[in-house]
Amino acid sequence: MPRSHELRQARAAKKDEFYTQYLDIQKEVNAYLEYNPNVFRGKTILLPCDDPEWSNFTRFFAENFERYGLKKLISTSFAVESKQSKWYEPTLFETDSPKYDKDKTRTHGKIFVLDRDVNNSGRIDIDDLQWEYLQGDGDFRSKEIKALRDEADIIITNPPFSLFREFVAWIFEANKQFLILGNINNACYKEVFPLMQCNKMWLGPSISSGDREFRVPDEYPLEAAGWRIDDDGIHYIKVKGVRWFTNMEHGRHHEPYKLMTMAENIKYSKHKEVKGIGYLHYDNYDAIDIPHSDAIPSDYDGVMGVPVTFFDKYCPEQYEIVGIGTGELAGALGIKKNYRGRTDLALTKDGVSSCPYSRILIRKKQ
Ligand SMILES: C[S@@+](CC[C@H](N)C(=O)[O-])C[C@H]1O[C@@H](n2cnc3c(N)ncnc32)[C@H](O)[C@@H]1O
Repeated sequence: MPRSHELRQARAAKKDEFYTQYLDIQKEVNAYLEYNPNVFRGKTILLPCDDPEWSNFTRFFAENFERYGLKKLISTSFAVESKQSKWYEPTLFETDSPKYDKDKTRTHGKIFVLDRDVNNSGRIDIDDLQWEYLQGDGDFRSKEIKALRDEADIIITNPPFSLFREFVAWIFEANKQFLILGNINNACYKEVFPLMQCNKMWLGPSISSGDREFRVPDEYPLEAAGWRIDDDGIHYIKVKGVRWFTNMEHGRHHEPYKLMTMAENIKYSKHKEVKGIGYLHYDNYDAIDIPHSDAIPSDYDGVMGVPVTFFDKYCPEQYEIVGIGTGELAGALGIKKNYRGRTDLALTKDGVSSCPYSRILIRKKQ
């Protein structure tokens, strides 16, 4: 089974307990700091849908609190009784605290705040994190967490896979800066695509191919193509198609994609569908099909259908996103009914018709 199916499966099964690796957070955050060393200075960061005792997000930003010049770090967790997975054990950090409550630990979320040198060590760091139980379960849609969202400047997390669309809407409702993980295919959701199209949201720079490893609960079946159990017995699953989504500037999405002309592609392309052949025209829309983003002909002025991974290379000064070739939004674009009676893009090769997987439509800017 292709590994790109794993996030979709997790979403369908509401398996949301995938914990992000420290290095993946560090690599991405470094790119924003390279572009603007003061990007976090004086800012309040909220890490919702987290689990501060398990999560690397809280650890990472708490460790870098002073270096980044943060004003305040807030992270919140979701109560175990509200989760699909009941995999849970309170940590010693919690059970050793006088605040520990054996009932609340299951029914209430927790909030961790870092904003000052509580232990008078002379610096603000992870040991100054203060925590308490939330009034509710920590659902990001609750009034309590919405108030924290409204207080924050930047929202950073790996949101529940099953609630990605709702999470994006929740951020945009409050008009916040954000950096969140999701699957590249989420860019095709009808609620998300228009945001990508009008450059209110783009991809982060550190992941554009391959897979990423996430820590998962011991109860999760390790039937994915890539998994491992480390020496401490901790389970990890590899997931393909993971990307950072953001509205924070990192500079790289303004770098034009270097491409060959149509004649060069036909002569030299590494893709057998293109080399010596050229490009097919869709049956039901005036555009040509580009089977791989690196085969976009630089000198073609018409509309082209490209795979959704084009967003990895998308430079809004170079290309305009015209629309999407599948689903509800495709009908609205004027794509005619295809051989299956649907408004998905279709093409015919050697007398056989098919619908290419998940195309977005682009046109070169003049
Ligand atoms: C993909 S995990 C990511 C955890 C952590 N942010 C990380 O990346 O290491 C998403 C987390 O959101 C939690 N969650 C699920 N539904 C939620 C909701 N409605 N509100 C808040 N958190 C939720 C899940 O229980 C899970 O712990």
